[in-house]
Amino acid sequence: MSDDLVFSDEQAEPIARKGLPAWQVLVVDDEPAVHEVTKLVMSDFEMDGRRLEFTHCYSATEARTVLATRSDIALILLDVVMESEHAGLELARYIREELGNLNVRIILRTGQPGQAPEEQVIRDYDINDYKEKTDLTRRKLITVFYAGLRAYRDLMRIEHARLGLRRSIEAISQVCDSRNLRGFASAVLEQVNFLLDLNGEGLCASRVSAYTANSTEGQLKVLAATEAYSQLMVDEEVGNLPRSVQDAIARALLEKTSHHGERHYAGYFKTKAGSESLIYMEFDEPINDQARELLELFSRNVAITYDGLLLREDNQAVQRSTITLLSGAIERRCNESSLHPQRVGDLAALLAGKLGASDHEVELMRVAATLHDVGKVCIPDHILTKPGPLDAQEWETMKTHASEGHALLSRSRSRVHVLAAQIAHEHHEHWDGTGYPQGLKADAISLPGRIAAVADVLDSLASASCYKKAWPLAEALDYLNTESGRHFDPSLVALVNAHRADVENIYKN
Ligand code: C2E
Ligand code: SIN
Ligand code: SIN
Ligand code: SIN
Ligand code: FE
Ligand code: FE
Repeated sequence: MSDDLVFSDEQAEPIARKGLPAWQVLVVDDEPAVHEVTKLVMSDFEMDGRRLEFTHCYSATEARTVLATRSDIALILLDVVMESEHAGLELARYIREELGNLNVRIILRTGQPGQAPEEQVIRDYDINDYKEKTDLTRRKLITVFYAGLRAYRDLMRIEHARLGLRRSIEAISQVCDSRNLRGFASAVLEQVNFLLDLNGEGLCASRVSAYTANSTEGQLKVLAATEAYSQLMVDEEVGNLPRSVQDAIARALLEKTSHHGERHYAGYFKTKAGSESLIYMEFDEPINDQARELLELFSRNVAITYDGLLLREDNQAVQRSTITLLSGAIERRCNESSLHPQRVGDLAALLAGKLGASDHEVELMRVAATLHDVGKVCIPDHILTKPGPLDAQEWETMKTHASEGHALLSRSRSRVHVLAAQIAHEHHEHWDGTGYPQGLKADAISLPGRIAAVADVLDSLASASCYKKAWPLAEALDYLNTESGRHFDPSLVALVNAHRADVENIYKN
């Protein structure tokens, strides 16, 4: 016991200094002397700068318990005869078949030459070597250890490469699911840790030069940071980061290439579109070449995705502003400063969100509902801007705006326009079937159509227009309830009631 302590202390020092974990070796043998000798003769063994660390079991049963909870063992020196004639072989079978541990290298050791295991056992249980216990000389053991540990090391390299590949595919698809640049950048940082199985802290920054979606044109901005860095940063300014991080980032930007130290990695990527993105990570442990290769591969893919995402955000921004301009132009023929289209969009988006639509669907709904009245471009000015009530013929013309809007929007196959066409067509249908243009009833009206009807009337009542004064919001909400089950889908009116505060919020801005 006291021997062990001295021995352990001696070994702990170089392990800690080098920072490389020891090779884990399990000795399973019912003869204590075998443990002693093995430990003694191998005490100064080292491979790839890593020492040995032994775990000792004196029966197959004890070894099962140890193996069931540990996956770090590289080599097992396994006695064949222990509590039973075949206890060692049974354990080998258990390791390969039940635990499914195909990596650990197994060296069988028998007391007598006559106990050689059958060829079938060596083949099926992937036994590396078979030695007689009389071969416990240092020279022989060293050969066995080198062969076994090298085989284990190579197996683990393959395993890591395979795992790394799988993780990088998973990580990239996770990242590609991000809805916006910031979410994307956070996902990148999270996935880097997952990918390398290391605890790292870091940040993502970008300098956008080609697109206008981001207001950061020409300036480096931090998009996301892990906890350690987010605490250092008060805003997106790179200037607030620690000097060493700033230097690493500056160097990458200057050299236009990635660089790394023992524990840090600064990835630099310039996309085809000309934006530059950076990822800076610092790790607790030194990162090896494989990890670096994986980081580089991952980051390259991330840069490509980033470009696509920028383009998408830019497209969305252009789409939104076009729609706002157009719908505003229509409305301004009637009311100089109407926010009606946007508010209908916001209300419809709110309701879709409360119904559980995804963020993406909510945004689709917002844009599509904004377009509900585009058919009014076809309505002559004298009708559209008439200060008083419409006569019967004017009213017939006015009602065509639903079908006209549908016809206009149906020319496009884009998702947002398909949804907008449906909304334009159905936003004046009534739940009880008395609406226009088709007289659809209840569920025959699409959900987006029913949502738009509630949003349109609520906002129309709450806003001033050329033919009426604005109603107080509370009265407009009362009107919805009066018409619940007549004009409106009762479940949507209930939804509005349940989220009255959110509705009121839309009118505070
Ligand atoms: P809008 O201004 O967007 O109004 C949408 C819907 O809100 C209307 O659909 C109606 O259901 C409801 N709404 C608006 N104001 C009132 C109101 O004072 N009382 C009540 N009970 N409901 C109201 P609707 O009736 O199918 O009208 C469609 C569009 O026709 C309106 O869009 C507006 O552009 C136009 N319009 C309707 N009535 C008049 C009118 O008296 N004069 C003029 N110039 N235009 C009108
Ligand atoms: C070590 O910690 O590596 C030695 C302990 C032992 O062999 O039992
Ligand atoms: C370096 O960054 O170049 C050395 C220090 C470290 O790797 O963290
Ligand atoms: C929606 O109804 O909220 C949008 C449906 C879609 O995703 O196309
Ligand atoms: Fe309308
Ligand atoms: Fe409207």
